[in-house]
Amino acid sequence: MDRWPAETIWEQVSPLLSGFTVEVLPEIDSTNSELMRRARAGQTAPTLLVAERQTAGRGRLGRPWQGQPGDSLTFSLSLPLRPRDWSGLSLAVGLSVAESLHPAIGLKWPNDLWWQDRKLAGILIEAATSGPHSQVVVGIGINIRPCPATGLSTPPASLCELWPQASAGAALARLTLPLVTALQGFVMTGFAPLQQRYAARDVLLGRELSTSDGQTGQGLGVSVTGALRLRQPAGERLIDSAEVSVRPQCP
Ligand code: BTN
Repeated sequence: MDRWPAETIWEQVSPLLSGFTVEVLPEIDSTNSELMRRARAGQTAPTLLVAERQTAGRGRLGRPWQGQPGDSLTFSLSLPLRPRDWSGLSLAVGLSVAESLHPAIGLKWPNDLWWQDRKLAGILIEAATSGPHSQVVVGIGINIRPCPATGLSTPPASLCELWPQASAGAALARLTLPLVTALQGFVMTGFAPLQQRYAARDVLLGRELSTSDGQTGQGLGVSVTGALRLRQPAGERLIDSAEVSVRPQCP
């Protein structure tokens, strides 16, 4: 198992986030679930929680998230955050992680990281809001090395295909400080200034797409608020529901 770069990350991030802590646990149900439990109990200190193994990892849309110890990086970052406009937050997170890890990593709306049309990483963002306070939990799972077949129709991608020396610890060390900086930047400016950088990695741009709620159309990129733009015979349609998933149609 990796030696985790907890101290280095703490030294980098503490000047930006007062009270920041880094925790590495051998096992927990889900790093997102744990940080959401803490947030609801009023524990709002900025925390990076890494789990070597999750027994009940969660993905978007109620799906499970599986990862083998050592072969995947699973962590969540919890911090107080109150952006003026939340739209596009998950895209901003995906963009930051992709840019930190490799120039060739693509982004699949709303917040998956893809490599050669296969999923490399997923992001689950949750928020606990109480009065004026809002705590955001950003959970990220990255495949580092190929895992045994998981029953998925397309086998996932893994970071070591692009970065042969990749390890969970090295990936975490690369991405944490830029992620914190990106989140703080998002509070100030929202998604709009990131639109062009997102477009440069958008794997759905120009492709024929179908959505889980039965729509089809050509991907036209994302709007200034991070909504997916779909060209349909009747005109352009914006999709911004977190409940919708989207796929390129088979070539
Ligand atoms: C998705 O692609 O559906 C999102 C996957 C998010 C998985 C990460 S792993 C760390 C954190 N803890 C969880 O239970 N989920 C997120």
